[in-house]
Amino acid sequence: PFAKELLGLSEMEKKIRDTYGLRKVVVVPGDCEAAETAKRELGRAGARALLEVIGENDVVAVTGGSTLAVMAEQLTPPSAPIKGSWFVPARGGLGESLEIQANTIASGMAKRVGAEYRLLHVPDLLGREAYESLVHDHNIQEIVSLIRKARIVVHGIGDAMEMARRRKLDAEMVEELARDGAIAESFGYYFNEQGSVVHKMLTLGLRLEDIKSTETIIGIAGGRSKAQAIHAVLKFGQEDILITDEAAAEEIIKAL
Ligand code: BG6
Repeated sequence: PFAKELLGLSEMEKKIRDTYGLRKVVVVPGDCEAAETAKRELGRAGARALLEVIGENDVVAVTGGSTLAVMAEQLTPPSAPIKGSWFVPARGGLGESLEIQANTIASGMAKRVGAEYRLLHVPDLLGREAYESLVHDHNIQEIVSLIRKARIVVHGIGDAMEMARRRKLDAEMVEELARDGAIAESFGYYFNEQGSVVHKMLTLGLRLEDIKSTETIIGIAGGRSKAQAIHAVLKFGQEDILITDEAAAEEIIKAL
């Protein structure tokens, strides 16, 4: 409440934007963990931000998650279809429900804006052997090279332990993450409080080096309990556009 009395939404946006040198920050009112309407607003703001940056012949890689799913629902068709653009999942499947998988979100967004999509039908968690055989598959190589060319990445951010549970990591792995101080998860990577990557997995999808060379990275996440995780990803320093809510922004600003 302290920060709220002191700062309005646009002041919060400016504060976070300037502290982390972002191109754009949008803070929607409320707490999207407490109210469906706030989550819808978050999704709508994310959709608007994407439509502002997407052009013709673009490649957009998207993660999964409930936030991205709401964002997809809020995408309104632009007046002219976005010609020659592709939507792809940033990573393989997490084994979560169909509605919030990256493949579903990529195809849903593409249909809404009149773009094309390609899907990646592999699990995100791959053992060495499976990885080695899939990486040589011609069809997989094609989609993977498209993913790695993405000019825009749209991703959710989650609490590390919550995402470890959703990804069904084994107990040993979870313990290791906790020991390494993982507090945030995004695009399959785990980050500590300082924003350093503490855990990587073998992946056919977007890798850290791809993320570092992506022109526009849009992070979309809200809710008070995600504040620490969002903050860690901001410190990682690759974000260009952040879409968040008042509750998370308040906590982030308190910790500055
Ligand atoms: C996952 C993304 O699908 O969703 C992650 O791959 C993200 O990057 C997570 O952390 C967030 O999910 P939600 O449901 O909280 O939006």
